Amino acid sequence: MNDLKKKQLMSLQKIFDNRLTIPAIASPMFLASGPRLVIECCKSGMVGTFPALNPRTTEALDQWLSEITHELNRHEEESGCKAAPYGVNLIVHKSNARLKEDLAVCIKHKVPLIITSLGAVGDVVDSIHAYGGVVFHDVTTIKHAKKAASVGVDGLIAVAAGAGGHAGTLSPFSFVNEIKHFFDKTVVLAGCISTGRDIAAARMLGADLAYMGTRMLATQECQVHQSYKDLIVDVSAADIVYTPAISGVNANFIKQSIDKSGIDIEGGTHAKAIDFGAELDEASDDSVQGAKPWKDIWSAGQGVGSVKDIPTAKALITRLADEYQQARASV
Ligand SMILES: Cc1cc2nc3c(=O)[nH]c(=O)nc-3n(C[C@H](O)[C@H](O)[C@H](O)COP(=O)(O)O)c2cc1C
Repeated sequence: MNDLKKKQLMSLQKIFDNRLTIPAIASPMFLASGPRLVIECCKSGMVGTFPALNPRTTEALDQWLSEITHELNRHEEESGCKAAPYGVNLIVHKSNARLKEDLAVCIKHKVPLIITSLGAVGDVVDSIHAYGGVVFHDVTTIKHAKKAASVGVDGLIAVAAGAGGHAGTLSPFSFVNEIKHFFDKTVVLAGCISTGRDIAAARMLGADLAYMGTRMLATQECQVHQSYKDLIVDVSAADIVYTPAISGVNANFIKQSIDKSGIDIEGGTHAKAIDFGAELDEASDDSVQGAKPWKDIWSAGQGVGSVKDIPTAKALITRLADEYQQARASV
């Protein structure tokens, strides 16, 4: 093992070892994940994350990071227990005009885990490794997984079929197996993971960590509207529609919220180029008329069928840990 690889493995161990009650990450979700959810997840031993674009400005991102580190340090002092590490999701794409400034703020705060989406760029990875941070990259195809592996990311997040947000189409079995043929670092599995048993299944499949979005939407601390959470509890997998018509690239949305928006996705005329900057502006501009993607047209994955309540993050993570241990014992 060369020195660089040794150093990277040590960073991984340092951020995760003895800090997790479940091997799982509460995944970053546009508009939905905020400091409250991140802090409560990390305090309970699950990695908490959020997209850097959720705070409206880079200055607000700086404040969120100060608040998160302050609260987690306080928790560690008071409880004598280590909190789980937290992470920030950076969209590495030309439509993200804030990337450079947001990255600088993440470096300033030494964010333990950076999750890159869309572009895997060697310079970004190097700048995070330089302070001892760890980089995971999320992918929906083997082609992109190989590209990210070639620039030295520490982990690959395989976003399989049925996931919330911009999901892939691959089966989790084929996806994890193929990644493990060429990548010997951390593998994270995403897509419909809702219970502790599902987390155990992800581990059995060969993943190191599970990545959970939809299940975390229906928690008290998640910052989406109550009717969005209630709808997640009501619907099932058959209500999830995979379409490029809302966000420009294929993503999963809840049929009832598409119907309410009046958009005719069958017409197929709504597909547009991906532009996260524009989506953010649109979602937060009250003067824009009509239903807005993500804010009014709600995304969720096929795992909704297993979501039957809206607990606190702490209660949910305690339950997930019990289910996880029971599932492991029963196999
Ligand atoms: C409402 C919503 C918003 C999302 N926003 C983002 C995002 O901003 N960045 C990102 O990398 N992934 C985003 N995702 C995808 C999740 O991080 C994760 O890959 C996915 O939710 C996992 O599948 P699951 O929902 O079936 O658990 C989003 C998912 C949802 C449901």
